[in-house]
Amino acid sequence: MPDDSKYQLMNTTAVVTGSAQGLGLGTAAELARLGAHVILADLQDEKAQSAAEELRGQKLSVDAVAVDITDSGAVDAFFNRIAAERGTLDILVNNAGLGQDVCPIVELSDEHWNQVLNVTLTGTFHCCRAAGRIMERQESGTIVNVASINGQNPAALVAAYNVAKAGVISLTRTLAMELAAYGVRVNAVSPGPVYTDFNKRVMAQRCESLGIGESEMIDRVRQAVPLGRWGEPEDIAQGIAFLCSPAAGWITGEVLTVSGGLSGVSAAPPKRAKK
Ligand SMILES: NC(=O)c1ccc[n+]([C@@H]2O[C@H](COP(=O)([O-])OP(=O)(O)OC[C@H]3O[C@@H](n4cnc5c(N)ncnc54)[C@H](O)[C@@H]3O)[C@@H](O)[C@H]2O)c1
Repeated sequence: MPDDSKYQLMNTTAVVTGSAQGLGLGTAAELARLGAHVILADLQDEKAQSAAEELRGQKLSVDAVAVDITDSGAVDAFFNRIAAERGTLDILVNNAGLGQDVCPIVELSDEHWNQVLNVTLTGTFHCCRAAGRIMERQESGTIVNVASINGQNPAALVAAYNVAKAGVISLTRTLAMELAAYGVRVNAVSPGPVYTDFNKRVMAQRCESLGIGESEMIDRVRQAVPLGRWGEPEDIAQGIAFLCSPAAGWITGEVLTVSGGLSGVSAAPPKRAKK
């Protein structure tokens, strides 16, 4: 029998942000299956509560708490409460993020730029800071930030999102150095395309700008992925779970790309029609 205990997360407390749906929910379920007590932290309280109910029905140990990661005071209070109630905070997965409406930089509004950066980068910073303080004090714990292949290789027409995810990668590497002396590991996972609500919205906008239908777009993306298929939430969840586990005990400051081999979408769009 192979010893797989080093992949288990027994007796740990984990927080996954943005876990009412999509990749966050898949990750929360995976960590719970591996033995963690998981707190689903999301803006969408009702959805998170019912997701937690469903996971508890599968005999998994989960709770749901309403948190807005853009509210730094609320984030600090949330993490302090979890650490006080549970004794330790062992795992944080910063998954919550906001996509950008497909739009060239020359037409991107201040408001939308700030909105995407505020949730995707600044929200992740708030959670890293609050959890980092606790983990530094404990001298234990691990953080995984969900970045994107767009953070490594920017795609046209989603500049704010690309920049936010590149920032998440830099934040990850910086925090990894700052917390290494305390035995706290910090890594990132860069997912490729998974057909969640988030991606459906972006794809619908790209279809419109390219004048193609949804099924053609789905097929184009599939063909661009070297492993020949879209990702599933479990693909991303398993990469994250590995980085959270003792099996990754000597890995910090890394970016694990989980994308079927796709490193980015670099096509330059044609000229737009004159208005
Ligand atoms: N789906 C993909 O193809 C893909 C690819 C690369 C990276 N990602 C990243 O993975 C993460 C999850 O993506 P997804 O596709 O599951 O997205 P999603 O939109 O389906 O889910 C995001 C979740 O985050 C929550 N959220 C948003 N703002 C929040 C806030 N201020 N505070 C707390 N929660 C908030 C939402 O309520 C939602 O439940 C995101 O960071 C995204 O950028 C996704």
